[in-house]
Amino acid sequence: MRHSTFFVKSYGCQMNVYDSKKIISILENKGLKKNKDLENADLVVFNTCNIRDKAAHKLYSDIGRLNKYKKEKTIAVVGCVAQAENSEMFNKNKSIDIVLGPQSYHLLPQMIDDLKKNPKQINTEFIVNEKFDYLTEQKRKQGVSSYITIQEGCDKFCSFCVVPYTRGPEYSRPLKSLINEINILTDKGAKEIVLLGQNVNAYNTSYNGRKINIADLIEEISNNKKINRIRYTTSHPTNMSDDLINLHSTNKKLMPFLHLPVQSGSSNILRKMNRKYDTDYYLKIIERLKTVNPKIEISSDFIIGYPGETDSDFKKTLNLVDEIKFTQSYSFIYSPRPGTKSAVEKDETSLQIKKERLTILQERLKEIQFEFNKSFCGKSTDVLIENQSVSNPEYFFGRTPFMQSVYIKSQKMNPGEVKNVNISTCNHKNLYASY
Ligand code: SAH
Ligand code: SF4
Ligand code: F3S
Repeated sequence: MRHSTFFVKSYGCQMNVYDSKKIISILENKGLKKNKDLENADLVVFNTCNIRDKAAHKLYSDIGRLNKYKKEKTIAVVGCVAQAENSEMFNKNKSIDIVLGPQSYHLLPQMIDDLKKNPKQINTEFIVNEKFDYLTEQKRKQGVSSYITIQEGCDKFCSFCVVPYTRGPEYSRPLKSLINEINILTDKGAKEIVLLGQNVNAYNTSYNGRKINIADLIEEISNNKKINRIRYTTSHPTNMSDDLINLHSTNKKLMPFLHLPVQSGSSNILRKMNRKYDTDYYLKIIERLKTVNPKIEISSDFIIGYPGETDSDFKKTLNLVDEIKFTQSYSFIYSPRPGTKSAVEKDETSLQIKKERLTILQERLKEIQFEFNKSFCGKSTDVLIENQSVSNPEYFFGRTPFMQSVYIKSQKMNPGEVKNVNISTCNHKNLYASY
């Protein structure tokens, strides 16, 4: 089969989206053209996520819809479901031609060529450092806010989570390769750098015999004069070092906003989850952060209905939410994942109760987010302008230091500039201004 066009669909986290961009570059370098829609592409790449059952399910229904075109298409399943399900995928759906784990995307062009020799291609080895060597080259234009993966994998083995199995052990990219990639990003117009990792604050490497942690890396990056803002996500509470906490006071490019997932407000549930901290520990970190920088705001992830979560455990989560006042959050009902420790635990809470708890939590989080946004109304705030809205060209889009989305009505604004704008109105999701 001739491959001249391709389509990539991303299902997962920010790292999965980052990987998809790299896959697009790799395929463009091979001479293929990116297609706007999936139906007319010769090669369809599904970059999958395995974190919850829903994401994995969606993949199979998407492939099912492609079956009628099968003769004209090559289907590659890459990412975390590919890693977890491995060669079993070929049995589950005969249309799949390539199965490729998240650490070997650079092998994709060769595997496409090798289809002529063998119609089923698979690679699920963990060869991370090699992957990044191949993936730095990028031809496309960069966004004002650009993401870069600095760390991958996880050694923490929370009882509910597939990541240690799908992404493998913790691996930190060498300093030099990161600085090179960031220079490329800023030469192409990036003003904000978002450092990505499954546990981004576990980053550690060495350079010229010196140990480098994430705080050192951020300091190094902030020497780049073209960069205005630095963020990092996702952090694990047990890796919040003093260096990193203090940096929130001393480094002016580091934004006063931190995604620090707590998962539950009950120490009992945290212990069962193998999170390796309790609520007191978590609260102390927040206190230290607020001491060095009173402006700092926190966002979190929550898992509702973990096996054994009682009403009293859930109330503790609500209490923690009221105490910390997370300004943005993601919350999900616990999804048992094959191969994880908690998948075999007894779970007596009904789905109905879990749904009720989730709704209560999400309503409360929404109220807090709205209150926070309202506190900006009638005041001015710095916004990094990212782009002009395509559907509504009289509006420009940007973000505050706290990641709030701002829509600004204006004749002209330049993406990449930080503008101080007056916020007129808001809802729980967005702020609005004119300039
Ligand atoms: N390393 C990060 C999180 C990475 S996974 C951390 O430890 O905080 C992203 C989020 O997915 C998690 O924070 C968790 O809230 C959610 N998640 C992971 N496994 C899940 C599961 N089995 N069911 C529901 N949510 C899950
Ligand atoms: Fe998953 Fe826990 Fe690792 Fe986060 S720290 S990626 S939740 S195992
Ligand atoms: Fe999903 Fe893999 Fe990311 S499981 S959340 S795509 S690391």
